[in-house]
Amino acid sequence: MSNDDTKDMVETVDVSPRDPDLPQAPGADVFRQLLHQAVRVADMANSQAMRMALDFAKVYEREQGVRQQFENQLKQMTLMEKQATRYAEDLAGMLRSERERRQELERALEQERIASEELRRTGLQGISHLVLAATIKDRTTGTHLQRVRRYVEAIGERLGLPAALVEEFGYSSVMHDVGKIHTPDHILQSEHVLSDDEFSVIKQHCIDGEKMLGTARFFETARAIAREHHERWDGKGYPDGKKGEEISLAARIVSIADVFDALTSKRPYKEAWSAEAGLKAIEAGAGERFDPEIVAGFVALTKEGVLERISSEVAASDDDEHPGSSAK
Ligand SMILES: [Fe+2]
Ligand SMILES: [Fe+2]
Repeated sequence: MSNDDTKDMVETVDVSPRDPDLPQAPGADVFRQLLHQAVRVADMANSQAMRMALDFAKVYEREQGVRQQFENQLKQMTLMEKQATRYAEDLAGMLRSERERRQELERALEQERIASEELRRTGLQGISHLVLAATIKDRTTGTHLQRVRRYVEAIGERLGLPAALVEEFGYSSVMHDVGKIHTPDHILQSEHVLSDDEFSVIKQHCIDGEKMLGTARFFETARAIAREHHERWDGKGYPDGKKGEEISLAARIVSIADVFDALTSKRPYKEAWSAEAGLKAIEAGAGERFDPEIVAGFVALTKEGVLERISSEVAASDDDEHPGSSAK
């Protein structure tokens, strides 16, 4: 029932004071008073109900607002959750593909390492065959190559070179005279002073050696050694007349080891020099024929007995392979 309905109902009841000229029914005043009170009570109840209804409407409105807010927040949270899930999925995908790429790279690197190791083994095998071929032809050449290799490695270590470089210099030194395969034996074994023509044939072994070693990276140092091991620190060597540090470090080292071993070994045309005499000749060549810094290292090695030890070790292994041999 609305407020207006109540009002209408109250207004239809006549509660005005009675007309004094009209005869009065017994108890009419009491009835009128009661009616008045009833109307007042109804009015009060009505307005209280109205106030309650309005209060309720306000509370309801507020509640609705709060609920709406909650719903909006919930929607936002759901949206954020979805976004976070998508982001996490994307991230996981990225990590997965990154991991796969890394594994692929590691596999490729491993294959590369295996291939390069195989290439190195093949190269080293080739070198062993070369030494073997040289040894079969002339055993003194075999032991010469072994000693030169060990001297070169000892000098490299003495100079503080990295182990991988020391190893490379060592195996590459074995091929220093590989070009001599083209040099006629009568010139190689000549016991007289060589003519200019014969000497130019000898010089050719450096150029031939470099060519024979092809273009593979594995033989890069060996090519430099083959070409430059007869060059001199003062520029008076052959075949190119390079001087000082124009000559590769490997070739400068090999040059000393090669000459020292040639001097201290027996040849068909000469006896073996003593280690002291050989060392003196090397020291005398410092700054002229040889790099003085490498000579200093070489002298130190000799004083420490390293070269002597290498020489006897190579002789012992040669005796094991060829019992009764006295080849030096
Ligand atoms: Fe040579
Ligand atoms: Fe040699």
